[in-house]
Amino acid sequence: MENLKTQIKGIIKALYDIDDTPVDFSEVPANIAGDYSTNIAMRLAKRVGKNPRQVAEEIIAKLGDEYVFMIAGPGFINVEVSAKKLQEKLASEFSENYGSNNSGEGKTAIVEFPSTNMAKPYSVGHLRPGTQGWATKKLLEANGWKVITDNHLGDTGTPFGVWVVGFLRSGKSLDEVTIYDLGQIYIDTKKALKEEAAEGKHELADQTQEWLQKLEAKDAQAVEYSERFNKISLDHIHNVMKRMSISTDLELGESFYAEPGKELVQKFLAEGKFEQNDDGSVICRLDEAGIDVPMLVLKSNGTALYATTDLACMFYRKEHYNPDLVVYCVGAEQKFYFEQLFAMGKKLGLTQENFHLWFGTIDIVNDEGKREKMSSRKGVVLLEAMLDDAEARVRKNFANSELSDEDIRRIATGAIKFSDFVADRKMGILYDPDKIFALTGFSGPFCQYADVRLRRIIEKNKDFVRVDFVDYDFVAEKDLLIQINKFPELVSGVVEKLELHKIAGYCFELAQALNRYYEKTPILQAEDKERSARLWLIEKADFVLSKALDLLGVEIPEKM
Ligand code: ARG
Repeated sequence: MENLKTQIKGIIKALYDIDDTPVDFSEVPANIAGDYSTNIAMRLAKRVGKNPRQVAEEIIAKLGDEYVFMIAGPGFINVEVSAKKLQEKLASEFSENYGSNNSGEGKTAIVEFPSTNMAKPYSVGHLRPGTQGWATKKLLEANGWKVITDNHLGDTGTPFGVWVVGFLRSGKSLDEVTIYDLGQIYIDTKKALKEEAAEGKHELADQTQEWLQKLEAKDAQAVEYSERFNKISLDHIHNVMKRMSISTDLELGESFYAEPGKELVQKFLAEGKFEQNDDGSVICRLDEAGIDVPMLVLKSNGTALYATTDLACMFYRKEHYNPDLVVYCVGAEQKFYFEQLFAMGKKLGLTQENFHLWFGTIDIVNDEGKREKMSSRKGVVLLEAMLDDAEARVRKNFANSELSDEDIRRIATGAIKFSDFVADRKMGILYDPDKIFALTGFSGPFCQYADVRLRRIIEKNKDFVRVDFVDYDFVAEKDLLIQINKFPELVSGVVEKLELHKIAGYCFELAQALNRYYEKTPILQAEDKERSARLWLIEKADFVLSKALDLLGVEIPEKM
């Protein structure tokens, strides 16, 4: 369509001397003649003082005979593309890199995910950062970017203090404590801290601070606690990430940046870019950026804050990777924080583009029939528990299929990951297992199954000797050809705003087109020429569908 758009723009310029009007095409519904349609004639009519149908006629008269054009309704120009042309286009463009492009060549992005927190078990709260982050990496790579991924661990700040205080209160020994104990200890201690504060006391809160300061001062006992609990946490985080088939190149946590952060605070204080309050705390004013809440970059007691570590992190990345783009995959709650952080970066002279890739919550329908956040007051839902549950569901749904454990994992995680992309990421997700794991409808398993079927056909035909099919017309395949040909434009089109959900929408459309195709088109039983042509196309469909799913991190099972 891009070609045609350019052609029409040229015609409009020549006919009416207008060049400020974009030409867009949309797909035509199945019951109307043509494949694509544009309302450009209707939009120009008033300006050129003619009726829309007249304008449409004038434009069509200048167009070549590569496509069939017709005027529809009040002045739409509908275009019918030839199936054979679509096939020739695909044949000429197809390669092992089909769908990828090099628009990002020479550019570097850092994508930060899942950035889980130590001291707490991996909960569903960090599902979306991981899924969205992984897909962001894949999409940028498909567009030619060099991508470095970083798990920005939450390994410093209050959690450590809370954990030690709670651990000492729990009476557990350091050797027997598990990540789940740590999680519970954390919750209990947070509660105790809240209660204490409500009573106007601060004994536990003070202890928490003391442990933080001890850790910063490298006190031996604090370091031992920290190392032990870091190992427990890290082993756990890596296990869960492995189950989700996600990984990162780097794993530089907040604690890595605490010291350099404090040094930078001093440097920018000296340069007059930061200001010190009377209580000793340090702020960065952001008024120039229209943000009237300054960023607090150092506590009054001189300890580092979340923002202190992110300050150092920005400069570390600049120095070591000089990125053009940094994508932070973090929930919507931190929107304002990142606005401040990015404004601070700019004020301090950093020029890379920063992107806060935020998303809504994962919700469930509770017992009273109301929608609420999945990890709620009633307790944290662990990602491992969610994955176990997902695998149990898949096992049950496919009880007759003798699936391998690995395939069960692929289907279970595929379903969960895909559900992360069924709507714009800014929307909350309703976790509805009946839909997510269904083999029909807008689901991961539906798309996976469409691809497993393709592979089965290819496998069944592996000994078939193909014949020449240059004069095959591909009319029965037109719908499928239209879908497949859209892929490269999809990949280059969605990267600008990282609209990952559009990839899921595309997978679904392609899988539906495939289902319609199998229903009416024989392959195994077709004449040699048709069979060869159809297999050629089926292979392209498999390539595109599995690559599109791979962009979302969804793996294809061997059997289903
Ligand atoms: N660990 C944080 C959390 O779970 C997210 C870290 C986001 N990244 C950052 N550079 N601040 O809320």
